[in-house]
Amino acid sequence: MKVKARTLLLGAVLAFVVCVVLSLIHPYGDVRGGTGRGDPLLAGATVPPEVLNVLTTKCADCHSSNTHWPLYSRIAPGSWLMESDVADGRSHWNMSQWQHSSAENQIQLLSRIASEARSGEMPPRNYLLLHRNAKLSPEEQDLLYGWAKSERKRLKQSSSNKQDRSSIR
Ligand code: HEC
Repeated sequence: MKVKARTLLLGAVLAFVVCVVLSLIHPYGDVRGGTGRGDPLLAGATVPPEVLNVLTTKCADCHSSNTHWPLYSRIAPGSWLMESDVADGRSHWNMSQWQHSSAENQIQLLSRIASEARSGEMPPRNYLLLHRNAKLSPEEQDLLYGWAKSERKRLKQSSSNKQDRSSIR
């Protein structure tokens, strides 16, 4: 009996060591570095503090370079699932890179943000399993939707003003 317990313990330790070693592999590239880490989110956009607060607490883990990586996210194979979500999320919309998108892209993204806010499909369900408080309340859905719509309108107006000015010249 004693020998069996020791074998089990040894097996568990070995499995853990293998997982730790596998954690050194990052199939989705240097997701943990992330360009623009620590930079302000949505630089150049007009964002009221309450909107920025929702985006920072509920969306920034996957849509910015300021991802918070808890200990459990560092051990394979879970680390790979999380790195994959973050790489995918950032490739669609990275708030740390906002100022590098064209006005046209920003306008398109704001439409998508408005529709995601309204549908309540973001944050994804697997994220909510570990972050129960990240679910958007109906008030937050309205807040994000209203902001995305009005910021989109503002950008559209300012880019059409620019066009008017250049056509006069
Ligand atoms: C766990 C990571 C994660 C979190 C947290 C998260 N997203 Fe996403 N998001 C993704 C992934 C992955 C995609 C790309 C795949 C997809 O559309 O489902 C995505 C796509 C998007 C898109 C682009 C959709 C399109 O049509 O291109 C928008 C907009 C978006 N998310 C908004 C949000 C908002 C707003 C929040 C916060 C309320 C949020 N996301 C939180 C992972 C996340």
